[in-house]
Amino acid sequence: MTRRFVGDTLIVASHNPGKVREIAALVRAQGVRVRAAGELGLPEPEETGASFAENADIKAAAAALAAGEPALADDSGLVVPILDGAPGIFSARWAGPDKDFRVAMRRLETAIAETGAEAAGQPAFFVCALSLCWPDGHCERFEGRVNGTLTFPPRGSQGFGYDPIFVPEGGAETFGELAPHTKHAMSHRARAFEQLQAACLARPAQARGEA
Ligand code: IMP
Repeated sequence: MTRRFVGDTLIVASHNPGKVREIAALVRAQGVRVRAAGELGLPEPEETGASFAENADIKAAAAALAAGEPALADDSGLVVPILDGAPGIFSARWAGPDKDFRVAMRRLETAIAETGAEAAGQPAFFVCALSLCWPDGHCERFEGRVNGTLTFPPRGSQGFGYDPIFVPEGGAETFGELAPHTKHAMSHRARAFEQLQAACLARPAQARGEA
């Protein structure tokens, strides 16, 4: 049976302030506040998993165990099927030590060209895995995905990471060209959070003080 989160403060196992802010905004509607793992001095485990879900589990379980309270973590990235799923769980690492995504996007274009295929128009998808873990080792897992195609050269200055080369299915603009609220309404992260909220966070109006 799905386990629900019944507290009012959730630990977010991320040391990325941007991600913590985004998660705080998403769970605020359910009357849940967040505390960042960094703020609590929790260690950052190595992401040694073989999938997005495994990495989200590693981060959430480590934080839950260290804090003695439930913790939430996400792991996300861009998957390109013609590259056997790369950059996938290594999406951030493809940008190198300087976290330069122009380098990562060029690297992706070159890698696709080396297969003999056309880089522009190549199918790709973003994935976001979410894990909510308790100190006893129980985890609830959710995954959101958004399909699209790649375009080169990169277009748009909104968003982050690989946004300027990703055109979501049914659209013409890249995630880098779309207004942030338009991207957030359809993103892999939003889709994973919708599932988490419905399964583990949604509370009766009375519990939110709206009765
Ligand atoms: P994580 O922090 O380990 O989950 O790494 C996620 C990486 O995947 C980011 O550094 C980006 O490279 C990429 N990524 C994930 N979500 C998005 C997105 O919405 N737009 C662009 N890139 C993304």
